[in-house]
Amino acid sequence: MIDIAPVLYKDEKLLLLDQTLLPNEERYLEISTKEEIWEAIKSLRVRGAPAIGVAAAYGLYVSVRDVETKMFDVFKDEFCAAKELIGGARPTAVNLSWALERMENKLMELQERHIYDIKEQLLAEAEKIRIEDEDACRAMGEHGLSLLAPGMGVLTHCNAGTIATSKYGTCLAPIYLGHERGYNFRVFADETRPLLQGARLTAWELFKAGVDVTLICDSMASIVMKNGWVDAVAVGCDRMAANGDGANKIGTSGVAVLAKEYGIPFYMFAPTSTIDLATPSGREIEIEQRDGGEIYRMWYAKDMAPEGVKTYNPAFDVTDAKYITAVVTEKGVVRPPYEENLKKVFEQG
Ligand code: MRU
Repeated sequence: MIDIAPVLYKDEKLLLLDQTLLPNEERYLEISTKEEIWEAIKSLRVRGAPAIGVAAAYGLYVSVRDVETKMFDVFKDEFCAAKELIGGARPTAVNLSWALERMENKLMELQERHIYDIKEQLLAEAEKIRIEDEDACRAMGEHGLSLLAPGMGVLTHCNAGTIATSKYGTCLAPIYLGHERGYNFRVFADETRPLLQGARLTAWELFKAGVDVTLICDSMASIVMKNGWVDAVAVGCDRMAANGDGANKIGTSGVAVLAKEYGIPFYMFAPTSTIDLATPSGREIEIEQRDGGEIYRMWYAKDMAPEGVKTYNPAFDVTDAKYITAVVTEKGVVRPPYEENLKKVFEQG
């Protein structure tokens, strides 16, 4: 696996790997204000549900660490203003609000303490969120690997790899573990239009790590499955509702429908930070809408659509629970009925 972290806190600096520059340039940018972290999340410089949560937690801390006051209420007002701004950057991945809520709960626990202590504890909480995510990904790697066998062809969509998390990735974690253990997987990476996370990020990180990866256009998933080259589909998740419907990068639900037709198991990897039992079903998940220029302008020297044409550019879609063979969490593999079994994951503590 490549040794590159999307979010680093080093020498009192918050550094984010600017993923919009990949695969051509590996550059970190320093974040020190709430506006900067908001922009970095909104523009997908840091992206992938778990990495967004981790970056938001550190981002919230750096946004308030220089607030000079001894009064808790004054500090709290600044904290809440930063939290509100950062929380509004993107709506779909629940890890964003989840991490920010955790930071606020920590703040409220500490209200009797000196502001200096509070700041230290907020940094410690952000660090804890990062480490817990790394551990969760490692565990998902082991659970995911139990579903796969050496030599399998695995198709993935978008990027749920090491740079979408603290480390290892969610659905790429078993690929990396298997790679270390000589499983010789053949991975097919959908390019993932319109923002090309599959081409720019997944193909980049797997190729760099020495995994056998083949890049395909999204429209080629069907022929690759029909050819018999895919034994399993593994994807990440941005928010899983209580009934097991899972929002992930646009195009995921089409891959799930194809997998069902071809009798291929479809595994969605969702750490508990991505499972939102307060959202009953996929219908209630807010889907981020993005600028249409991402479809016809972003990667081209000239516009590739007639000027003024209408566009529709949802960043995510919801895969209905009925297409998901199993959900891989850090606590184990969850099978249907999801309504019942996802709840049990949280009851385990
Ligand atoms: O828009 P993005 O790049 O943030 O979308 C990312 C995805 O959809 C990932 O599959 C998901 O966040 C899981 S990341 C471990």
